[in-house]
Amino acid sequence: MSAPNKSYDPVEVEALKPEEIERMRDEALAAFAAAADLDQLQEAKTAHTGGTSPLALANREIGALPPQAKADAGKRVGMARGAVNKALAARQSELEAERDARVLVEEAVDVSLPHDRVPAGARHPLTTLSERIEDIFVAMGYAVAEGPEVEAEWFNFDALNIGPDHPARGEQDTFFVQGGKAADAEDSGVVLRTHTSPVQIRSLIDREPPVYVICPGRVYRTDELDATHTPVFHQVELLAVDEGLTMADLKGTLDHMVQELFGGEGMKTRLRPNFFPFTEPSAEMDMVCYVCRGESVGNPDRPCRTCSSEGWIELGGCGMVNPKVLTACGVDPEKYSGFAFGFGIERMLMFRHNVEDMRDMVEGDVRFTRPFGMEI
Ligand code: DAH
Repeated sequence: MSAPNKSYDPVEVEALKPEEIERMRDEALAAFAAAADLDQLQEAKTAHTGGTSPLALANREIGALPPQAKADAGKRVGMARGAVNKALAARQSELEAERDARVLVEEAVDVSLPHDRVPAGARHPLTTLSERIEDIFVAMGYAVAEGPEVEAEWFNFDALNIGPDHPARGEQDTFFVQGGKAADAEDSGVVLRTHTSPVQIRSLIDREPPVYVICPGRVYRTDELDATHTPVFHQVELLAVDEGLTMADLKGTLDHMVQELFGGEGMKTRLRPNFFPFTEPSAEMDMVCYVCRGESVGNPDRPCRTCSSEGWIELGGCGMVNPKVLTACGVDPEKYSGFAFGFGIERMLMFRHNVEDMRDMVEGDVRFTRPFGMEI
């Protein structure tokens, strides 16, 4: 029998008794098993394996034991800690697997759902065509000009040499908005513009010559909506004012436009005498039929539905700017001359794309607009 160990402290060693170590181990295992998720497991881990956990504290007591007791206790505590760490690792991977499985379910993406609930719209062919025409002229150095749709009568009529008795000023064609007091820019009545020609006036007043502008826009006339009429439609106006411009420049410009718009050889225009108050001389402009290129004329074997075998399609009006218009805008007609034209975009869209009913253009149905594609 060995002599009693003087440094042996029974109180200190209580924690190292085999039942105590087992209890600590079992409590740790129970805590890990009870952890329902990774957060709870983290708490249990700190409580049972951290620096102040019962097993860690017990481990510190080992040093105080006599050699044989030290070895036994060390082995017991070591085994208990080993079991605890193993259980912790096992529970950890169990809970991680559970979490991963749950995340897969919760965050699953149903790739069979319809991908786009808001159907894409389509650009309106009137916008596309109008921008296309703008581009042709911008490429030649023209500027795009705009004016108000609710316009002073002076700009819409008087300055364009459309006197008070001109039929276009009658109730028939014009939406009148407000009466006027005088025939000048400030006090004249107000109308919804009946054409884009007032933008000629605004451009000449706002800019110094030379002026080269292309003016697309919406215009209004008191027509009923039917297959060939609409009270709201679009025009493109062109105005060039410079020194020495002649009708030959107008003709060359028109030919260039139809070649760009309809492409290919043989596209050209012709002018027929006409009257507009704001141009002198004035002409009606036709372009050669872009389908038969004039070859259906007098050729019964090759009839053309597009131009009714006439060889020409009417486009709009044009002419040399009336000196009275230049004077009304403060431009010296002795020094400057100009040419202008205007035509309807709906009409051009109708024959360019075989649209048969104008109502299709105003109804806003994407089934109409979509087939025109996304030409930008
Ligand atoms: N403004 C005219 C209309 O709406 C079209 C027109 C004719 C415009 C001759 C012009 C032009 O610029 O020179 O019927």
